[in-house]
Amino acid sequence: MKALILVGGFGTRLRPLTLSVPKPLVDFANKPMILHQIEALKDVGVTEVVLAINYQPEVMLNFLKEFETKLGIKITCSQETEPLGTAGPLALARDQLIDGSGDPFFVLNSDVISEYPFEELIQFHKSHGGEATIMVTKVDEPSKYGVVVMEEETGKVERFVEKPKMFVGNKINAGIYLLNPSVLDRIQLRPTSIEKEVFPQIAADQRLFAMVLPGFWMDIGQPRDYITGLRLYLTSLRKKSPSKLSTGSHIVGNVLVHESAVIGEGCLLGPDVAIGPGCVVECGVRLSRCTVMRGVRIKKHACISSSIIGWHSTVGQWARVENMTILGEDVHVCDEIYSNGGVVLPHKEIKSSILKPEIVM
Ligand SMILES: *[C@@H]1O[C@H](CO)[C@@H](O)[C@H](O)[C@H]1NC(C)=O
Repeated sequence: MKALILVGGFGTRLRPLTLSVPKPLVDFANKPMILHQIEALKDVGVTEVVLAINYQPEVMLNFLKEFETKLGIKITCSQETEPLGTAGPLALARDQLIDGSGDPFFVLNSDVISEYPFEELIQFHKSHGGEATIMVTKVDEPSKYGVVVMEEETGKVERFVEKPKMFVGNKINAGIYLLNPSVLDRIQLRPTSIEKEVFPQIAADQRLFAMVLPGFWMDIGQPRDYITGLRLYLTSLRKKSPSKLSTGSHIVGNVLVHESAVIGEGCLLGPDVAIGPGCVVECGVRLSRCTVMRGVRIKKHACISSSIIGWHSTVGQWARVENMTILGEDVHVCDEIYSNGGVVLPHKEIKSSILKPEIVM
């Protein structure tokens, strides 16, 4: 089987992290976001992944080369020269997606994190015999999204309602699809929306089905949702493979620490923390609801909450970093500094406190 991953946009909402790497390579729970998806695809027998991308394909391919051999999966890029929306990239990659086997192929949105229940998706797709399956997820405020109205019993999609004013349902498109090759015959090579143009057409032919995604779902394309996504991911990891999480009297809730990270005496870590490879966390540090990426050093008695610390940065002793502070790659926060929601571009040194949320150039 094959899969297409849609890497839409330039990742501006995840700046400054996306100033260092393309968005799918930003680490999430100690692994580039896209690897979570590629590994899950590999587990259900996908042999080739096509990345639909609009910029820096060389950076992506160079990085992913290592994983091609490690995972034994072919990874290619399909680069659009003009934005083609969410359906156009499928037409562009048509030849890469069709292999004559007639097998359906996966389409994933690169920003979405979940338990990726692909095996269940394949089974459901086979059982209904339609042309396409989309995964849907329940949300609390459906009025902000496009709602999928479906038959409860069969999952057959009846219609889509964009930002409904009145309650029509609470299931929204989760950005994970399994499509028969024939769907490609419905898509032209031009900017097109799969949600607004292609799916309604298949639904009108009674050939579109939806499956409620079991487990959590989050679009982590922006910092606040990224931090929420980490909490949901770690909660799910607790259920599925609890041995991957740290234990001890210095741990509160779910904490993921890379085996090569070094944690000093008297720290208190958690809940919802990820500490990446090669990090050094000195004595007496307090971390909660945060991501600390590869190669970071957190000095003595620093306190970090609800923040993302980019690769190879340092946080000085007694510093306090909070309220959605995002440090880009190689940022140095001096001792005793306070950061309230600072968004700091790569390679900066922060010598004075950031008192209210702002971008530091
Ligand atoms: C935290 O950040 C938000 C904006 O992201 C801001 O509205 C709020 O005032 C900040 N909290 C404090 C305590 O400054």
